[in-house]
Amino acid sequence: MKVHNFNAGPAILPQEAVQEAAKAVLDFNNSGMGILEISHRSKDFIAVMDEASALIKELCGLSDEYKVLFLQGGASTQFMMLPYNCLPQDGTAVYSDTGTWANKAIKEAKLFGNVNVVASSKDSNYSFIPKGYEVPNDAAYFHLTTNNTIYGTQYQDIPSASIPMVADMSSDFLSRRRDFSQFDMIYAGAQKNVGPAGSTIVMIKESMLGKVNRTIPTMIDYRTHIKDGSMFNTPPVFSIYVAMLTLRWIKKTGLENIERTNLEKATMLYNEIDRNSMFKGTTAVEDRSWMNVNFVMNNPELEDEFKKYAKELNMIGIAGHRSVGGFRASLYNALSIDSVKALVEAMQEFERRKG
Ligand SMILES: Cc1ncc(COP(=O)(O)O)c(C=O)c1O
Repeated sequence: MKVHNFNAGPAILPQEAVQEAAKAVLDFNNSGMGILEISHRSKDFIAVMDEASALIKELCGLSDEYKVLFLQGGASTQFMMLPYNCLPQDGTAVYSDTGTWANKAIKEAKLFGNVNVVASSKDSNYSFIPKGYEVPNDAAYFHLTTNNTIYGTQYQDIPSASIPMVADMSSDFLSRRRDFSQFDMIYAGAQKNVGPAGSTIVMIKESMLGKVNRTIPTMIDYRTHIKDGSMFNTPPVFSIYVAMLTLRWIKKTGLENIERTNLEKATMLYNEIDRNSMFKGTTAVEDRSWMNVNFVMNNPELEDEFKKYAKELNMIGIAGHRSVGGFRASLYNALSIDSVKALVEAMQEFERRKG
C-alpha cells in the first residue's frame, strides 16, 4: 500500500536507500552475512564509516579542521555533551530560544556554566525567529536551532557572531545549502533527512575542545570519539550504514536540487494554507519552515474530521505535535512532490464539501 508519509521523524527515507538496505540485511557485500551480523571492526564496516564521514564533509564543504563523528544518545545527548566539553564553569554560553528543543538545550547548559538567552520567542508560543540582537563577543559559544521541528519555524538567514557558533540542525541538516563552515560545531540526529534513528552526526572543530577544567567522563569526551574514529565502543552499525546510503543519494541528487524541490514543496503547501478559507498558518510568514509545515483550522471543531479524511487517503503523520495540536506536515527530502499535491488536493476537496 502506498502511503503519503508526513511523519516528523523517524520519517520517510529515499526508497532506493531502503531497498539497498533491505538487501544488505540478508547479505552484505556478498559476505554471506547480513549487515546486522557483521563486526564493526571488519574492513567492510570501517569502509562504511569512512565513506559516510567523507560524504558529510564533502556535502557540507568542510575542511579537515572538522572531525565528523557518529554518536549515540540522540541530539538530546548533545544538549549535555556540548556544555560539558565546551562551557567553562565560570564561563557563559549564549543561546537563542526558538522552541522546545532549544529550550531543552538551554536547560542542560545551565548545569555546567552561565547561560545568556540572548533572544527568545517563547512569549509568542515560538511563532517567529527573533532577529536584531547582538551576540556578546566574550562568551564560549553561541547556540541556535536552525529548524524548529515542533513549531515549524526556520532560520532563513543565519545571524553572525564573533564567537564560535554551534547549531542543532537535527531537522534540516542537508535539506538545503548553508554556509556550514560558519559553525564551529554542528549536530543532528540522523532520523529526519539523513537516515534511521540510532546515530547522531557531530561535526566539530578541534579548536572547540580542551578549554574546560572539569573532568569529563570518557564516553562524554568528544576527544575519545575523535581519537577512535567513532569506534571507541560499538557504533550503531545498521543506522550508520543506512545513513551512508542516504548520503550517497543526497550526493547523487545534488544538494542544490534537493533544496529547490524542498522549497517548491513548502511553497505549494503554504500557498494552499493561505488560499484555503478553512485553514490558516501559525507562524510568521518570513520564518516559515520548509521542513515542518504547521497549520490549524479556522473552525477547530472540524480538525478531527479532516484528520479522518486525510487518513482515508493514506496520509500518515499530519497531526501536530502533542504540545501544540492542529496539523504538522513534515516535508523531508525523500517526500515526493506528489505527496504534497495529494495533501493540497485533500484540503481543496474538504473546502468544497464543508466550506
Ligand atoms: C531540532 C531537534 N533537536 C533535537 C531533537 C531531539 O533529538 P533526539 O530524539 O535524537 O534526541 C529533535 C527531535 O525531533 C529535534 O527536532
